[in-house]
Amino acid sequence: MAKSRGEFSSTFGFVMAAAGSAIGLGNIWGFPTQTAQNGGAAFVLVYLVLAFFIGYPLLMAEFVIGRHARSNPVGAYRSIAGGKTFVPAGYFGIIVAGLILSFYSILAGWMVAHAVEPFFKLIGADHLAAWVVDQSNITRNILFTSLFYVLTIGIIIGGVKSGIEKWSSRLMPTLIFMMILLTIYVLTLDGASDGLEVYLLPDFNKITDPQLILSALGQSFFSLSLGVGTMLVYGSYIANKENLVYLGVFVTLADIAIAFLAGLLIIPAMYVAANAGTEIFDPAGNLISGPTLVFQVLPELFNSMGPVGIPVALVFFVLMSIAALTSSISMLEVPVSYAVDTRNLQRQHSTWVIGGVFWIISIILVANFETLFGMVVSFTTQYSQPLLGLIICIFIGWVMNRNSILEELKKGSPTVADSIFMKVWPVFVKVISPLLIILVFLQSLNVF
Ligand code: TRP
Repeated sequence: MAKSRGEFSSTFGFVMAAAGSAIGLGNIWGFPTQTAQNGGAAFVLVYLVLAFFIGYPLLMAEFVIGRHARSNPVGAYRSIAGGKTFVPAGYFGIIVAGLILSFYSILAGWMVAHAVEPFFKLIGADHLAAWVVDQSNITRNILFTSLFYVLTIGIIIGGVKSGIEKWSSRLMPTLIFMMILLTIYVLTLDGASDGLEVYLLPDFNKITDPQLILSALGQSFFSLSLGVGTMLVYGSYIANKENLVYLGVFVTLADIAIAFLAGLLIIPAMYVAANAGTEIFDPAGNLISGPTLVFQVLPELFNSMGPVGIPVALVFFVLMSIAALTSSISMLEVPVSYAVDTRNLQRQHSTWVIGGVFWIISIILVANFETLFGMVVSFTTQYSQPLLGLIICIFIGWVMNRNSILEELKKGSPTVADSIFMKVWPVFVKVISPLLIILVFLQSLNVF
């Protein structure tokens, strides 16, 4: 194994990196959108329960496997006793991580494009301003997706400390600061309180809706970057002195808090837009969601604000771009870490080559958007992520040596053996989480 594979230099740096991976378009766009689609606060409640009871245990499993093996998913399964049969799952995770990067970069490219628009507006280049937000223009989509790849690759070339950690530590506090300011501002506008009501008052009739539970599970897997090995790889760079149990709690709480905050921003913003005359319901009477929400309703809202709308739009889309970047680097790091530690290749070359391969896939997706995009999204996030999560639970719950697990956890937390965590977590990864994943999965296939 390569000797200097890198390590996060501080607790803060790690938390920023892992929270940066978790916090992304999934939180600021996906979560509010899903909430709007699934009856408001009822979805929020189910989401919270699943994030804590399935997401967190799985996150811990990835941290433990990663730090124990100090390797990528393939290297980890190879080196841990009993893991040989799991190696194909390691490869599959690496590929899925890359495919997630391929579609994510397209969405992220749109965010960057919208962040550029206010500049063109300010200098009076209205033609260019209209061009950069023309969703159907393939050249524009290729250009901004490529730009986003260059940013992602640029950071990953820097490695763990001077790439991932350095940039996450700069970008994440900026993101949180901007988001709080923007939320406070939106909440002062007319109409915001109607949105707050929809967001915070649950419709309990919806809580048992299978579609709602499935969406909430998918959302929690995506949002915590689970299954594909992202958190396993980040875990492999955590210093031995760190307490994994706490780190996991921090990351989960940060992820949930930002998703919740994003809901406080976006849903009231929709009602502010409605107040200003924008249509926020579709013909069936449901709240508009998906791309229309972010790229139509919100821009209309910003436009309706007059001159102040330009800086507000700028802040919002810069924030989205930052969130996307600290997530995309964590996707690219999965295959890159495999190339570097298992194949002994040089980081810089591997990053360009691997980044280039997934960039090509992105271009194919852009060119065949209608047919391929949705397929790749559901293949990776709806099916592969829960399946891979299930495999990780089986590995850590049934195969991996219990003493090794305990020793690993003890490293940064000597008293863990007697803690409540050690009483509850093993039961979850062994039985409860796998069963819940299978149940929700079968339900999605309409077995019940
Ligand atoms: N969690 C990120 C978000 O919410 C996306 C993300 C980063 C991700 N790494 C991942 C999703 C790995 C799935 C797998 O936007």
